[in-house]
Amino acid sequence: MGSVTVSLVLNGEQRTFEVPAGRRLLDLLRDDAGLTGTKEGCGAGECGACTVLLNGLPVPSCLVLAASCEGADVVTVEGLGGDRPLHPLQRAMVERGGVQCGFCTPGVVTTGAALLEHGITEPLEQGRRLAGNLCRCTGYSKIFEALQAAAREPGDD
Ligand code: FES
Ligand code: FES
Repeated sequence: MGSVTVSLVLNGEQRTFEVPAGRRLLDLLRDDAGLTGTKEGCGAGECGACTVLLNGLPVPSCLVLAASCEGADVVTVEGLGGDRPLHPLQRAMVERGGVQCGFCTPGVVTTGAALLEHGITEPLEQGRRLAGNLCRCTGYSKIFEALQAAAREPGDD
């Protein structure tokens, strides 16, 4: 299989990678860009651990071909806080106990940040949209408390 050149904006920075044609976005992020915050759980689109924002929407990066990201805007958990130390949801997750083993956390925070960005603040709707992010540890209530706390936070940008 040949290689392809992929140019994309990664966490606000223009980057170019030469990757095998079949490479997944998840592998480009972890192995080529060294951004190991994004996790691999199931590798099959089921668990949400690998979620990143692709053009502003949460996607499972294990199911996305890197080559299809030419010209795209990709944000990983490392890029969420922008120039602040932490995104409000990252802070709320820590303060509210939404992080236990932490394996699901990058995906949860990335999806949650997109929900907040799109003004989705109702608990029921947040719960539905987070259904693709599995957590084995928290029972979800702490995660939802953190989302609600971050949604209430005024003027975070
Ligand atoms: S590793 Fe991608 S959805 Fe589970
Ligand atoms: S904190 Fe362990 S899987 Fe969610």
